[in-house]
Amino acid sequence: MLMLPARAQDKQFFDVPFVPTPYVVIEEMLRLAGVTAKDTVMDLGSGDGRVPVTAALLHGARGLGVELDPELVAQSTAYAAAAGVADRVRILQQDLFKADLSEATVITLYLLPGIMGRLQQTLYNLKPGTRLVSHDFRLGDWQPDAVTQIRKNTFLWVVPAKVAGQWRFETTLPGKPELELELRQKFQEVDGYGRFSGRHAQMWEAKLRGDRITFAMVDDRDRENEAAMYFEGRINGDVIEGQVRRGTGRQQTVHNWRAQRVAAVKP
Ligand SMILES: C[S@@+](CC[C@H](N)C(=O)[O-])C[C@H]1O[C@@H](n2cnc3c(N)ncnc32)[C@H](O)[C@@H]1O
Repeated sequence: MLMLPARAQDKQFFDVPFVPTPYVVIEEMLRLAGVTAKDTVMDLGSGDGRVPVTAALLHGARGLGVELDPELVAQSTAYAAAAGVADRVRILQQDLFKADLSEATVITLYLLPGIMGRLQQTLYNLKPGTRLVSHDFRLGDWQPDAVTQIRKNTFLWVVPAKVAGQWRFETTLPGKPELELELRQKFQEVDGYGRFSGRHAQMWEAKLRGDRITFAMVDDRDRENEAAMYFEGRINGDVIEGQVRRGTGRQQTVHNWRAQRVAAVKP
């Protein structure tokens, strides 16, 4: 039986072949993710290392690569040294499915749809606010937060906090109305229903981006004097805290709010 050389045998187990991302597309991916010197950019399946090296060179970020092919790992390490960014770029020879992603603030991907689907839950469970940017492929049924096209499609997702469940609010709104909402969530898409001052209430214009949530509700306690209430808050586990602006323009008043998750799903 014909035996393949060791490396060729290994290669058939790689999930995706090496096809490099053009530099203009890399620059667009890093721009779309808003990469700065504070970021750690991790490329999953890093090929010749061009993404982490570009992140370090153009944005002063830390670059991490995860690559299974030892020849590409050696090539990328030499590339980082030649580019003068060896102190900020590290390439790990590892299976991307086993990599520790917790250090990354930005994850870049140029993989295949099947692999993206397999990564979806792992990426969704990363720290809220982590940005994910992909060249060409979507993350299964997780809708992107932004899509751009500079020669190729690039997609951005911001990992949302988990907000599904029953929340009880305290506010400094006049009269301290009671407010309880049940939030439903599919990735960053949220809606909510509940009770405000004893009446049925609904969330409007809800937006979730990382650990930030904004939404509006209608204060209908006095039907002659209704006003929208614009909530913004930061989610931290089972607590959300922020401000609510009641009304607009000269009539606007600003109040504080705090919500506590009282049940993960409606009992
Ligand atoms: C399409 S290339 C993208 C290279 C680079 N990210 C870029 O955009 O230029 C995919 C890379 O993933 C690597 N790869 C495939 N399966 C992998 C796995 N399970 N773990 C780590 N790397 C893998 C391949 O060797 C290849 O270099």
